[in-house]
Amino acid sequence: MSNDRLIVALDVANAVQGLELATKLGDSVSFYKIGLGMLTGGGLALANELIQEHGKRIFLDMKLFDISNTIEAAVRGLAAFDLDFLTVQGDPHVIRAAKIGAEGSNLKILGVTILTSLDRQDLDDGLIKPGNLPDLVLERAGRAFEAGAHGVIASPMEAAQIRALPQASGRLIVTPGVRPKGADKGDQKRVTTPAEAIANGADHIVVGRPIYQSVDPRGAAQAIQSNLRGL
Ligand code: C5P
Repeated sequence: MSNDRLIVALDVANAVQGLELATKLGDSVSFYKIGLGMLTGGGLALANELIQEHGKRIFLDMKLFDISNTIEAAVRGLAAFDLDFLTVQGDPHVIRAAKIGAEGSNLKILGVTILTSLDRQDLDDGLIKPGNLPDLVLERAGRAFEAGAHGVIASPMEAAQIRALPQASGRLIVTPGVRPKGADKGDQKRVTTPAEAIANGADHIVVGRPIYQSVDPRGAAQAIQSNLRGL
């Protein structure tokens, strides 16, 4: 049975450590997220190796934002790596350009709505229009879908409302901020369990520290997988 609803965040310093972790996890994990923190540590080379030599799926979390011409070129280059998911900012012009760059590949473009670390004061500082944050998240998700995003990244607490949007039909919702029962929350504030995230409408959950900081990463991943299997 496919176990790709769990995406493990490889938030380690470099490709060597990333490969070590992926080797430990073995067949308990088939989908990995590689983010900006590992970009200068060989992140893209590791993505390539995990895809080509280990048959893994890769979510490259780059949260791109630029003029359309540059986004299109960047995504066209990344699409050649056989990645599964790529994040860009959820602004409609960015999504549209990324979709053009991804044409002819299987790369799915996921839009970032509003970073969950931001509060209303941060939005004011960034000159983002008035309104409460959850409403703005929903509005941005709707616009990202209308611009053609294959999916969005969302807090599991917002997933149910996004799933209910008419524009969300057939689109993906991917949620970080997930903690197995009893796990340390770290700096995540608004968390749910893996099962709750899926019940709220998430297609994939992203989990990092509860797995890679565990004394038994493989056991931690297997425990989440067996939770998800029953759903
Ligand atoms: O270690 P943890 O499970 O909290 O990792 C979650 C992953 O999801 C990290 O790679 C983090 O950067 C990412 N993420 C997040 N919240 C967001 C966007 C991304 O936790 N709003």
